[in-house]
Amino acid sequence: KFSTKMSKPSVYITRTVNEAALDLLRQHCEVTSWAGPGPVPRDELLRNIENKAALFCMLTDKIDSTILDKAGNTLKVIATMSVGYDHLDVKEIIKRGIKMAYTPDTLTEATAELAVALLLATSRRLLEANEEARTGGWKAWSPFWMCGPGLRGSTVGIVGFGRIGQEIARKLKSFNPKRIIYYNRSEKSKAAREIGANRVDFDSLLAESDFISVSAALTPETERMFGEEAFRKMKPNAVFVNTSRGGLVDQDALFRALENKTIWGAGLDVMTPEPLPLDHPLFKLKNCVIIPHIGSATIETRNEMGLLCAQNIIAALKGQNMPSELLP
Ligand code: DGY
Repeated sequence: KFSTKMSKPSVYITRTVNEAALDLLRQHCEVTSWAGPGPVPRDELLRNIENKAALFCMLTDKIDSTILDKAGNTLKVIATMSVGYDHLDVKEIIKRGIKMAYTPDTLTEATAELAVALLLATSRRLLEANEEARTGGWKAWSPFWMCGPGLRGSTVGIVGFGRIGQEIARKLKSFNPKRIIYYNRSEKSKAAREIGANRVDFDSLLAESDFISVSAALTPETERMFGEEAFRKMKPNAVFVNTSRGGLVDQDALFRALENKTIWGAGLDVMTPEPLPLDHPLFKLKNCVIIPHIGSATIETRNEMGLLCAQNIIAALKGQNMPSELLP
């Protein structure tokens, strides 16, 4: 508990965030932050985490027992500006009685929107076409040039049918696919009914989908679920899109599948590592669209995410319910 008479609790922010979030936090807390450029270096985080009541972090910050040990028992809450939380050592955090918060919901639409954009950029070869237009490859309109598979009449497969997966399905439905199928640990019958999607097993999804969009969290169960075997089971015309985490994909296997045309193309917003080294073989492939983890990057959403982190921290420090507590 804190009052204005007592010294304010201190918060460490690992990045420069939006003014609205900062203003709100400053009303209640002493705020220090890493001013960049880029993610906070680990030794800097270790130096600054001591005696803090709250940590406002990003998915680029690995919060493990070394950080938690250094933080000690003053740390009451960790709020990550993301819906994914594979960068948090959840077990260690819970063991220490530290609360966690994240930013679901607010980014669902933005991430689904980006997934659709990436799918279309890949299937309709937008980057390749733009390159042709600007480098003289475009000689004249040609009947079969720059063609790609269309969504109409296709089978769309969604892997991970949570909030984001469902929203991707909703948006893709307007392109008139024949079928939408999903693979998810649990049945999501209400949303599935509303959208008109059917749950199938993983192998059926791989074998039947013309478009595969991945929106599952990275967990020990999902890690590298897209390996050699998974790509072999896909259709040769399959377009594979990943907006979740790079860790779900065996990138060497994906490279071989794309190079050998085992599948048609891939659109990646996430990969391992990030950023992907410039000499990575995936960059050499025309049928691979690579963008730098911008799923939730609409101006409005990122501002809301920052603000929500601040609200979560303040609520936790006041002993109130957080607007979006992370309870894995
Ligand atoms: C998340 O929130 O986990 C996304 O990857 C970035 O917004």
